[in-house]
Amino acid sequence: MSAQHGPTGARAGRGGWGRSGLFRTKTVEQSIQDTEEPEHTLRRDLSAFDLTVFGVGVVIGTGIFVLTGKVAKENAGPSVALAFVVAGVACALAALCYAEFASTVPVAGSAYTFSYASLGELPAWIIGWDLILELALGCAVVAVGWSSYIRSLLDNAGWHLPRALTGSHGGGFGFDVLACVLVLVLTGILVAGMKLSSRVTAVVVGVKVTVVLIVIIAGSFFISGANYHPFVPPSKPAVGGNGLAAPLIELIFGFTPSDFGVMGIFAAAAVVFFAFIGFDIVATAAEETRNPQRDVPRGILGSLAICTVLYVAVSIVVTGMQKYSELSTDAPLADAFKAAGAPFWAGLISFGAAVGLTSVCMILLLGQSRVFFAMSRDGLLPRFFSTVHPRYGTPYRSTVLLGVVVAVVAGFTSIDVLAELVNIGTLFAFVVVALGVIILRRTRPDLPRAFRTPFVPAVPVLSVLGSLWLMLNLPAETWLRFAVWMALGVAVYFAHGRRRSRLGQGESPTAPTL
Ligand code: ALA
Repeated sequence: MSAQHGPTGARAGRGGWGRSGLFRTKTVEQSIQDTEEPEHTLRRDLSAFDLTVFGVGVVIGTGIFVLTGKVAKENAGPSVALAFVVAGVACALAALCYAEFASTVPVAGSAYTFSYASLGELPAWIIGWDLILELALGCAVVAVGWSSYIRSLLDNAGWHLPRALTGSHGGGFGFDVLACVLVLVLTGILVAGMKLSSRVTAVVVGVKVTVVLIVIIAGSFFISGANYHPFVPPSKPAVGGNGLAAPLIELIFGFTPSDFGVMGIFAAAAVVFFAFIGFDIVATAAEETRNPQRDVPRGILGSLAICTVLYVAVSIVVTGMQKYSELSTDAPLADAFKAAGAPFWAGLISFGAAVGLTSVCMILLLGQSRVFFAMSRDGLLPRFFSTVHPRYGTPYRSTVLLGVVVAVVAGFTSIDVLAELVNIGTLFAFVVVALGVIILRRTRPDLPRAFRTPFVPAVPVLSVLGSLWLMLNLPAETWLRFAVWMALGVAVYFAHGRRRSRLGQGESPTAPTL
């Protein structure tokens, strides 16, 4: 069937809005055809196992190693375990939608590509711009967290970096040299090729999962039942949580901003959601997968399931080891072992966390360069960035550009505010993907789908509601920052992408027969 001439292709390709419209869609066939142009082709050598390793490699990171302690102490107490369940359910719903899209549109770009095939060019641009926020800032956040763990290990050995090279503190000037160097080194590894990076990742993921299991198993010997009372601490007025720092939902309904209680669980869920970010990135590697129709859904759902179980177990153990009000907000897992009089385990956990965060950083970097690559290949960003390396087969120009930008951001930025911004951007992408599943089922019911989301439209609708609910539990100021970033993106689209789009210029090749 031809995308240009077939009846359903024509409908999907024009979307009823014409070639110059904001909602012109790139057909699924066109998306696949683009990946077959030799100089824009990525190497296909990943399996379902590689994808699951990628998923676990990026998902377990700052969220569980750092944010668990912070939200248990400030928002939810021991019920942080429930917050992980809430965030996990929202992610599982989104994963079911991601898996259908990824198995239908097996090309680079994740939610960006999927929305180009279903919602149209402007929504696709918006989601691509949004993914850059998620992946680039997420990578910077993790690099800064990695740097803290390395410094803690260096301090143990008696080596102290000059304060000016440890990042900004309390508004003062500082440059985080370790975070910056990490990002630059990982950029070099990614330019050298997927094969190398997936091997390195496999080793790192093994270390990280082992450390998480050590926390669960060794930590369970130090649990005191008294620490679980109260499991859901009673609600109390928020500390400095008034005004724009309060969750948007509380401002909308005129609640007095508060911490703990049932609403505290949801506020915590909106933050620990960061711990799940990454399963969606498995979809960005679809184009480099040997059998994307079968392996991408397996990779996404498998990594999500493994991580959810580990998170709930870790949070139950840690809040049982130490009273929630006494948990550390820097290195809560290691510090809980120190407080329990087990410094050996604490050191081992710190080391494993630092190793584990390396893989998170690397895969976030990989994901963002692939989204940028796909947007460039479509002409929405300069096409200069979509040529692959003649020897390594990697999109080296976009990888280097973004690697340098992230290295600078990581060098100069502190992590707290950024994590919430990353969360709102990711949740927004989930909303678009879930809507896309419903739309594509209607516009292209004929497409083969190796994985079908169950109970459509119920599951996508629940996914939209779940993601929106978590977004509403983020601070109002996070919404404002997000709105500014997205407004900037729309301006860039109208200044560049709309005119340079290959689809808009009628350049897209005739699609192959499926
Ligand atoms: N999910 C990743 C983390 O927790 C981004 O660090």
